[in-house]
Amino acid sequence: MNNQRPVTRLPICAAPDLWPGLRVFLILILAAGFFSAAALASPANEKKAATPAAAGLPAGYVGSETCAGCHEAVAKGFEDNPHTKMVLQHGSNGVTCENCHGAGQAHVEGGGDISKIFNPAKHSNKEVNATCEKCHASTHPNFDRSPHAKADVGCISCHSVHAPGKNTEHLLKASQPTLCFQCHNDQKPQFNMPFHHKVNEGAVNCSDCHDVHGTFGNSNLRSTADQNAICTKCHMEKRGPFIFEHAPVKGDGCISCHTPHGSQNARLLNAPSVNAVCRQCHSSVVAGSMHNLNAAGSSDVTPCIDCHTMVHGSNLDRYLKR
Ligand code: HEC
Ligand code: HEC
Ligand code: HEC
Ligand code: HEC
Ligand code: HEC
Ligand code: HEC
Ligand code: HEC
Ligand code: HEC
Ligand code: HEC
Ligand code: HEC
Repeated sequence: MNNQRPVTRLPICAAPDLWPGLRVFLILILAAGFFSAAALASPANEKKAATPAAAGLPAGYVGSETCAGCHEAVAKGFEDNPHTKMVLQHGSNGVTCENCHGAGQAHVEGGGDISKIFNPAKHSNKEVNATCEKCHASTHPNFDRSPHAKADVGCISCHSVHAPGKNTEHLLKASQPTLCFQCHNDQKPQFNMPFHHKVNEGAVNCSDCHDVHGTFGNSNLRSTADQNAICTKCHMEKRGPFIFEHAPVKGDGCISCHTPHGSQNARLLNAPSVNAVCRQCHSSVVAGSMHNLNAAGSSDVTPCIDCHTMVHGSNLDRYLKR
């Protein structure tokens, strides 16, 4: 999670479907980045020994220590989970497990009655997403309208809370691009083409251009206001503004001439030669002494960019020649 975008709400009751009535009482507000300990700790706010039942937990909650008593391996593995850290940072007494699994008292009293605990693995993506979104909606506000959510790909399709992949960040099941290619097989060969963004080589990530948690743009693209901003973040010299803009660069953007993933053509061009790229739009350039664009076989003429060198925009020449 990004520190500049703090989580704003930390409700304890994470399974409202199971305990709808409790929710009203249990929602904690995280104001100004501080976990409000009021509903959790004693009014005197002193540090208490961890006897969960006595720690002033809301009715139905037992606290993580109790869970650890029976789920030793899971609890041990959870010690360095970012979810544990955040609870510790905020000075709570550790209801971590129940933030996602819901109030656990009935489960415990039933000797581990599995019908009395929320196991995300057994619920729909929609329900699980809602649990996660209670805390993560502020950083991923567009998830529900994303192509992923619509195709029933949920948070735990890509993230694993308890068993993330080895050497992955952000609790991902696998690192990029492996994770993505598990489902996006069609895109895989594009990154093996002779010219490609070096995603497999680790120089560029899918998530540099896409936000898989949803955006307002097509194809989960990160930027909408200025499509080119995705590209000019790295290719800064193409950003402009130029005194003489080349209309398509500012219009449909970089992908009117380039294929973003990979291409058979050098410079990721979307056509086999520079002239073929230009001709997609300049099919009938007024023929002048410099041009013989309409003549048969004119794709063999001098490459347009030999003269129009500043095809991305120029500060000197209207015809983009310098
Ligand atoms: C299609 C796979 C996928 C899905 C579905 C998905 N994530 Fe992610 N998530 C990623 C990837 C990849 C990253 C790392 C790159 C990035 O930050 O975009 C990430 C990063 C994160 C981060 C840490 C970085 C940040 O931006 O705060 C959080 C938190 C997170 N995801 C939560 C969620 C939640 C909550 C859901 C469900 C609402 C979800 N993710 C759904 C793939 C996914
Ligand atoms: C951030 C949410 C979250 C927190 C916090 C959390 N869990 Fe889970 N837990 C899950 C999800 C999601 C699953 C479903 C399996 C998976 O995706 O890893 C799960 C599965 C489980 C399972 C079933 C394991 C299995 O193999 O089927 C147990 C037991 C469990 N959690 C115990 C705990 C305990 C004990 C804690 C506290 C130490 C805890 N969980 C904290 C989200 C959470
Ligand atoms: C008295 C022992 C005990 C305690 C305490 C306990 N559990 Fe369990 N739990 C079990 C047993 C037994 C099972 C079922 C056997 C198994 O699959 O491991 C189970 C299963 C689960 C499952 C999987 C349910 C499923 O559908 O398969 C989850 C999730 C879980 N416990 C979470 C918790 C959480 C969260 C806590 C703390 C609030 C907790 N448990 C406290 C004994 C306990
Ligand atoms: C009670 C609030 C809460 C719930 C519920 C919750 N999270 Fe989180 N999660 C957090 C906080 C706070 C952090 C930030 C920790 C940090 O900054 O390192 C976090 C961190 C993460 C990260 C980022 C880890 C990283 O290393 O960047 C991922 C991924 C994530 N959560 C996924 C999930 C998923 C998936 C669920 C639902 C199964 C879920 N969370 C439920 C509060 C929550
Ligand atoms: C669990 C399977 C799964 C995983 C993992 C996954 N996706 Fe997806 N993704 C889908 C499905 C299903 C869709 C919606 C149908 C479609 O457009 O293919 C989708 C849609 C998309 C779209 C929008 C496509 C469009 O035409 O609008 C993009 C972009 C995307 N995913 C990128 C990624 C990236 C990047 C990753 C890795 C970080 C990733 N996905 C991981 C299944 C997955
Ligand atoms: C350099 C930026 C960039 C990178 C890196 C990138 N994409 Fe894309 N991707 C785009 C753009 C731009 C589009 C939209 C293309 C269009 O509209 O013609 C797109 C479209 C898509 C689509 C929609 C279907 C399609 O092919 O048009 C999917 C799915 C997708 N990307 C998945 C991925 C995956 C998976 C990765 C990583 C392996 C990835 N992308 C890496 C820029 C990128
Ligand atoms: C995360 C940074 C990053 C982003 C975002 C990015 N690129 Fe790139 N791009 C690179 C790098 C690095 C290379 C050089 C790869 C190499 O050495 O082969 C490259 C190479 C290229 C090339 C080929 C250059 C050559 O000399 O052959 C073109 C064309 C290109 N990118 C266009 C785009 C477009 C269009 C977008 C937006 C859809 C985009 N890039 C987004 C980093 C990025
Ligand atoms: C009108 C078509 C067109 C548009 C639009 C366009 N380019 Fe290009 N681009 C070209 C051509 C033609 C070349 C040169 C190919 C050659 O030298 O063989 C090129 C070369 C490049 C190169 C590699 C050589 C260099 O100059 O660094 C990069 C990187 C690049 N473009 C990025 C971008 C980015 C980023 C955008 C969007 C801001 C963009 N292009 C928009 C046509 C275009
Ligand atoms: C996606 C469509 C498209 C592509 C591809 C394209 N152009 Fe353009 N170009 C335009 C448009 C639209 C204008 C603005 C025309 C106007 O203002 O009359 C323009 C303007 C120009 C101008 C300036 C003309 C003037 O009268 O100011 C030159 C020179 C030019 N393009 C050269 C090229 C070259 C060279 C290529 C190939 C590298 C190319 N164009 C590719 C659409 C395109
Ligand atoms: C030998 C150098 C040269 C080559 C090669 C060349 N041009 Fe030009 N082009 C010029 C010059 C010089 C002008 C300015 C004409 C004027 O001053 O009247 C021009 C003007 C233009 C214009 C604006 C005026 C008009 O006719 O609409 C466009 C568009 C254009 N060129 C596109 C292209 C395309 C596309 C190609 C490649 C297929 C190309 N040029 C190849 C030198 C060249």
